[in-house]
Amino acid sequence: MNGKLLVALPKGRLFDQSVNLMSKAGIRIADQDGSRLLFFEDQDQQFEFVMLKPVDIPVYVESGAIDAGIVGSDILRELDSDVNEPLDLQIGRCKLAVAGPADKEVSYQQNLKVATKYPRTAARFFRERNAHVHIVKLDGSVEIAPLLGLSDVIVDLVETGRTLRENGMRVIEDISQISAKLIVNRTAMKIKSQQVNGLISQFDRVVYENS
Ligand code: PRP
Repeated sequence: MNGKLLVALPKGRLFDQSVNLMSKAGIRIADQDGSRLLFFEDQDQQFEFVMLKPVDIPVYVESGAIDAGIVGSDILRELDSDVNEPLDLQIGRCKLAVAGPADKEVSYQQNLKVATKYPRTAARFFRERNAHVHIVKLDGSVEIAPLLGLSDVIVDLVETGRTLRENGMRVIEDISQISAKLIVNRTAMKIKSQQVNGLISQFDRVVYENS
């Protein structure tokens, strides 16, 4: 790689919001629709970008294979990644919550079965409540688990609440507020400080204006 900062962008629900934020910060990238290119640059060729599955971004950034990235705090807390978090980008806002069937009373005292993409976060949450639970790790469409009897409740992201509502479920308890963070590799923070600080101040201005 050359001296440019290599930045990971999350595929999926955060991608459009990330591109929109970058565009407001003066970092413009061409439409990547349908492209199979792994690396691309912004139009001013200030940065190099790579699109990754969100769950892989902290792994690459912690190792130093990628300098920086945009990722949700849900994933950061789940992986407990050792990276710098210089900025809350205030996009991708939602919450992590315990949810279950709307017509059932749920007590944390039972031996609850909990389906989730966030096994460590869920285990931590129920441990703090002295609740003995059995965690079932899933990779998506978690809301279906209680409907099919795989679990009693779920721990999942709630944004509009529509998925829960349309599937006869309700929030039982909020766990935490979620938003996307800029993360930076600890070594890159020092040896590429000029580029990193440039990126932070470009984003910082927009985040401040948006807040
Ligand atoms: C997320 C989350 C919920 C849904 C919540 O899923 O896991 O399923 O969005 O959004 P809502 O409250 O606005 O309905 P995502 O779309 O990321 O896909 P997934 O189910 O495959 O994880």
